[in-house]
Amino acid sequence: MTDADPVVEAVFDAVAATAPEIRDALPGRRVESGTENPSGETVLAGDVYADELLLEALSAVEGVGSFVSEERPEAIDVGGAVGEGAYAVAIDPLDGSSNLRSNNTMGTVVGVYDAPLPASGRDLVAAGYVLYGPITTMIVADDRGVREEVVERDGDDPGVTRSVVDDDLTLPDEPTVYGFGGRVPDWPAAFREYAREVEDELKLRYGGSMVGDVNQVVTYGGVFAYPALVDAPEGKLRLSFEANPIAYIVESMGGASSDGSGSILDVEPDGIHDRVPLHVGNEGPIDRLEAALDG
Ligand code: AHG
Ligand code: MN
Ligand code: MN
Repeated sequence: MTDADPVVEAVFDAVAATAPEIRDALPGRRVESGTENPSGETVLAGDVYADELLLEALSAVEGVGSFVSEERPEAIDVGGAVGEGAYAVAIDPLDGSSNLRSNNTMGTVVGVYDAPLPASGRDLVAAGYVLYGPITTMIVADDRGVREEVVERDGDDPGVTRSVVDDDLTLPDEPTVYGFGGRVPDWPAAFREYAREVEDELKLRYGGSMVGDVNQVVTYGGVFAYPALVDAPEGKLRLSFEANPIAYIVESMGGASSDGSGSILDVEPDGIHDRVPLHVGNEGPIDRLEAALDG
C-alpha cells in the first residue's frame, strides 16, 4: 500500500472540517443570492457561503496552489506553482442546491489535480464528496483506493471526528438502481430507448442531487446519468468539479464512466466550466449505453 499524500490528506481534513459548518449554515441560506454563476445558473445564499468557506479553508492548505469553483469564473491563485509540487483543487461547493428548498440531499464535490485547470481527469490525484444526508458522510478516492467516512462534530470542541466505515469501497457486482437526469422528451432517441430497457430492469432512485444519486449507485450498484439532451448536447454537469471527480471515484471502485463514447477521464476540456454528458456505474450498463449511443 502506497503512503498517503500529505497534501491530499490535508485537503480532505479541511473539507471535512467545513462540513458541519456548511450543514449548520443551510437553514438560513435557502434564498437566492441575486447573482448567477459562470454556468448561468441562479446562485443561492448556501452556494455563496459554502464557496467562501471552502476557499478560506483550502487556501490555508500548504501545497494547494489554485482554487477552482463552480461559483467563480476563473481559478484563484492561492500560492504555489500548480503541477510543480502544488495541486489545483476544483470544488462544487454545494451540489444539488435546488434541493435546499425541498430539504433533500446535497453535497460538496472535490477534485485534486496535479495540473493547472482546465485539465483532463487523468491529472486527478484524488477526488471525493461530502454527502449531507441523514448523516454526513465523505467518500475519498486516491491511488490507495476508495474509503467512506462518517463526519461528525467533536462534541463542543472545534473540529470534527472522522470514522472510516469502509476502507476499501468497491461497486456491488449486481446493478440494482438507476437515476437519469433531464426530462424524457429532452433525451435523444437512442438514450430514451436505452432508458426504457433499464427501467424494466432496475429500481428508480433519482433525487435531483448528483452526489445523492451517485451515492445510491455507489451503495447499491447500478447506473447514474445526466445525459446529452436534444437541445443541450453537452448535458448539464460540469467536467472539472462534477463529472471528473465522480468518474475518478466510480472507476476507482471498479465501475466505469462515459461521456457517451469513452471514459470521462479522457475528455480534454477547453474551459474550467465545460459541461459534459455524465454516465457512471457498473461496467455492464455503461457498456450497453455506449453500444446504444453508437447505433
Ligand atoms: P448544482 O446544484 O451544483 O448546480 O448541481 C445540480 C446538478 C446535479 O446536482 C444534479 O444531478 C442536477 O443538477 C439535477 O438537475 P435537474 O434539476 O435538471 O434534475
Ligand atoms: Mn453540482
Ligand atoms: Mn453547486
